[in-house]
Amino acid sequence: MLDSTTAVILAAGQGTRMKSALPKVLHAVAGRPLVHYPVRAALEAGCGEVVVVVGHGREQLEAYLAQAFGATGAGEGRVKTALQREQRGTGDAARAGLDGVRASSERVLLFYGDVPMLEARDVAAVAKALDDDPAAAIAMATCTTDEPFGYGRVIRDGVGQIVEIREQRDLKTDAERAIKEWNPGIYAASVSFLKEALASLSPNNAQGEYYLTDIVSFAAKRGQRVIGVPSRPEVMDGVNDRAQLALSDRAMCERLLAKHRVAGVTIRDGARVEDSVTIDKDAIVESFAVLRGRTRVGAGAIVDVGCVLTNAEIGEGVALKPYSVVTDAVVRARAQIGPFSHLRPESDVGEEAHIGNFVETKKTKLDRGAKANHLAYLGDGFVGEGANVGAGTIFCNYDGFQKHVTRIGKGAFIGSDSQLVAPVTIGDGAYVATGTTVTKDVPADALAIGRAKQENKEGYAARLRGRLEAMKEAAKKA
Ligand code: UD1
Ligand code: MG
Repeated sequence: MLDSTTAVILAAGQGTRMKSALPKVLHAVAGRPLVHYPVRAALEAGCGEVVVVVGHGREQLEAYLAQAFGATGAGEGRVKTALQREQRGTGDAARAGLDGVRASSERVLLFYGDVPMLEARDVAAVAKALDDDPAAAIAMATCTTDEPFGYGRVIRDGVGQIVEIREQRDLKTDAERAIKEWNPGIYAASVSFLKEALASLSPNNAQGEYYLTDIVSFAAKRGQRVIGVPSRPEVMDGVNDRAQLALSDRAMCERLLAKHRVAGVTIRDGARVEDSVTIDKDAIVESFAVLRGRTRVGAGAIVDVGCVLTNAEIGEGVALKPYSVVTDAVVRARAQIGPFSHLRPESDVGEEAHIGNFVETKKTKLDRGAKANHLAYLGDGFVGEGANVGAGTIFCNYDGFQKHVTRIGKGAFIGSDSQLVAPVTIGDGAYVATGTTVTKDVPADALAIGRAKQENKEGYAARLRGRLEAMKEAAKKA
């Protein structure tokens, strides 16, 4: 429906009020940069083309847009970028954006890259309002709330027509300051009108900038109509400083939790689930769990209190017990992890395998039903089906220069407090005695034992105690 509409999204500003080295629109809300959401809304609304105006920090922003949406300056895909050379205000940015709009586009939907909560329907409603009233020059969203501090206000004339948007800093009278109708910043207009209107702008305002909002008074002065489209204020908060970033982040996370709950996931209060995470139904996510990045959680899995998952793939029915940390790793169906386990990148825990408390894994694959239940480090290894790795086992994988591989065969048993000095292979069904330092391969079904022989000296402890006691008495007297 919006095929011949181009969305122009303004994202070139520095965001001075953020006080940050990072461009404002790259600050994250629910795990994605602010700018992600308006671009996605435009795509979901069906806009034939999306032009993102970049400027401040353009390399970083372009890199993100290329990776997330395949955007380029040339615009082979649906998303492209246009450059605003100097940040001279939103009107100037809109001009730069318009230069990037393809010739076949008839209409432009303009909005800001710092309004993360808005959705496709919010921008589509503004486009539709213009469609429904072809005589109007502009359709724009408006919101009405009790305290619109900081936003441009909608000034209407005696018969209720919109005649101007006036910025907070340019409000002159108490009557103007009392206006509760404000501008969330979504505008629809024809390309030809915008070209004319933007060419007429001048920086006569408190900030000495070219204001996009002045296209409204431009239309009104020529007797052209501006339609106000009543919009949802709860999704229109702009992010200009860190306090607003925190508010939008909270609102976005609440929206995401609600979405998962509707889809059949139990999520307790205080859990945090980022936008890019998927969770299948009947999973349970307990309080203070944090799910980030491309994490996927399978049906019926439990992510218990305080777990932190980043790009983790969690299979069906997995139990992640409290305070486990999983990063760039896979946990397959019905495995049990934790409490207090640390699965580092490229770990792959097989079906029904167990990783217990204070076990760290890195680049290690455990086959089905393998176990390492307590206090171990498994790095650069393979653990065969059903093998058991005892408490305190260490894969000595690093010689200070290179990493080496440890292989443990199917059904092997590694006794507690063993060190496996890689590269080393323990055969299927082999047995490593407790406290052994393994430096040579162990054949299948063999026993490796490498420790000093035990000797018992009868009565020695009692004699030793007597001697030590006498020494203590002698020292006191001296
Ligand atoms: C703007 C509106 C205000 C509205 C509010 C809604 C203007 C003049 N004011 O104010 O009426 O209530 O948004 O959130 O438009 N940008 C550029 N180039 C520039 C300057 C800004 O691309 O030279 C981009 C920014 O990156 C940002 C967006 O435009 O994403 C809005 O700029 P910002 O400075 O946040 O405007 P507000 O003060 O919020
Ligand atoms: Mg803003």
